[in-house]
Order: sequence, then structure tokens, then C-alpha cells
Amino acid sequence: MNIDGILEFLNSHASVRQYTDQPVSDEQIDRIIDTAQRAPTSSNLQAYSIVVVRDPAKKEQISILSGNQPHVKNCPVLLIFCPDLLRLRKVCIQSGYRFREEYFEYLLLAVVDAALAGQNALLAAEAMGLGGCMIGGIRNRPQEIAELLDLPPRVFALFGLTLGLPAKPARIKLRLPRSVIRHDEWYETDKIEAGLDEYDRAMRETGIYRGRRISLEEIGPNLEEKTTEDDYGWLEHTARRLANPASARPDLRPFLESRKFGFR
Ligand SMILES: Cc1cc2nc3c(=O)[nH]c(=O)nc-3n(C[C@H](O)[C@H](O)[C@H](O)COP(=O)(O)O)c2cc1C
Repeated sequence: MNIDGILEFLNSHASVRQYTDQPVSDEQIDRIIDTAQRAPTSSNLQAYSIVVVRDPAKKEQISILSGNQPHVKNCPVLLIFCPDLLRLRKVCIQSGYRFREEYFEYLLLAVVDAALAGQNALLAAEAMGLGGCMIGGIRNRPQEIAELLDLPPRVFALFGLTLGLPAKPARIKLRLPRSVIRHDEWYETDKIEAGLDEYDRAMRETGIYRGRRISLEEIGPNLEEKTTEDDYGWLEHTARRLANPASARPDLRPFLESRKFGFR
């Protein structure tokens, strides 16, 4: 095993949103799912399921429900990662125990399991020369997605993963400086600001936000535009994204409660 090669591969990740028409075979999907299943999983509970969507009409519907994202419609295959407590409840019932599913811990556990499996799946796909993009937009309209995929209570669509052969090389996106992420021995609040400023400058210089501003109208009424093109960077973009009421998906918790997920 060549460590430098493996790390270089891991560090070459970039989300891919444009694909050729070349199909992804069923064998490729099985290999990707087998690798997803190798991810660590809390207490070996394996609390997730993966729905494979190839049907063009269904992908188009999901694309619309996910905020009209063209790559969801145009990808050859879409995997949907679903935290799944249905199977585990069945296991409890069969053995004559009560599953304490009202507790938030089980939702959290299943979300972490599904996320780890999703990341393994993306890495497996990238190792096979494919590209992909995770789709959190699938949580925009969770009820309609559940109906479209026939998801039973205790199973919900956490994120999608578009997969296909990249139509062009994707651009690698800078990450926050390590100093913001790494804290030695204790949490070092003081260093956050400098790190964020550094990142803001670096991201702005890449030109990534040109023509991609989040409009103030999405956030609320009577907000005055004070940011020039040159000032608009990661800080402004991120703040606007977080201030947008729709980003918080306020319908999600009531939906999950209605689907028997617990918040106690
Ligand atoms: C859970 C999750 C949800 C995401 N949802 C979307 C999405 O709905 N649409 C999209 O185009 N990208 C989505 N992304 C991709 C991120 O935008 C992307 O990973 C991030 O900007 C970093 O870029 P990179 O992956 O190219 O390094 C999502 C990523 C994650 C991890």
C-alpha cells in the first residue's frame, strides 16, 4: 500500500456536478454499496438503507423537489442514504423487547451511520474513476420524497449522492486553515477570527462567488445591499446562507416526528 498515493487520492476529492452519458453499471453500484457497508457503524447496528434511483422520471422529480438541481436529474444514478430504525425496531419486537425509539440518540446514531456510509460510497466511486455530489437538498420536501420512494415510518432520506463519469475535471475547493479545525488539549476560541479572515480572503481570490451571490431578498424584507463584489467572500456567503430561513428547513423536525423519529 502506497501511503502517499492514498493520501493524494483522498486529498483530490472535489464534488462533480456534470457527467457524461456513460451509464454506471449494476456491478459498479454493488461494489460502491459493499464499500459503503464497510464503514464503521455504531455498535454494529448498521442503521441505514440506500435507495438506488435510475429511473429518469423519478430522478427528475427528485431534482425538482431538491431545489431544481440539474445534476440530480442528469446523473446516471442517484443513491439515497436513509437513516433506518425500522429494521432495529423489528429486531427488538422479535426478541420481545421495547425499542426506546422515542430518544433522540437513536436518530443521531442512524444519521451518523448513514453519513459514514455515504462518505465511503463517494470514496469508492471516486476510486473507480466516477465522480459524485452529495445532495442535502433532498431534505427540502421530505414528505414528497418519502412518498416518491415509498419510505416507511422510521426511514427518511438524509442526503442523495449523484454518481457518474465526470464530464470535466472538477475544481478542488480550499478548506479552512488547519488552525481553525485543530485545537490542542483545549478549545482555542481566540484563534477562530484570524483563521476565518484568512480563509475568506483565500476563497474570494479564487473567484468562486462571482455571479453566485445569495440575494438579500431570500433572507428577508428591507435588507440593504452593502457588500461590493470585492467584499463578497466566504464570510458573507456563509452568513447569508445561514440567515436564509429556508436553509433551516423548519418543516423537518415535525416531519421526522410524524415518521416516528424521537426527540426526547
Ligand atoms: C451532506 C451534504 C449535503 C450536500 N448537499 C448538496 C446539494 O444539495 N447540492 C450540491 O450541489 N452540493 C451539495 N453538497 C456538496 C457541497 O456543496 C460540497 O461538498 C462543498 O461545497 C465542498 O466542495 P467539494 O466537495 O467539491 O470539496 C453537499 C455536501 C454534503 C456533505
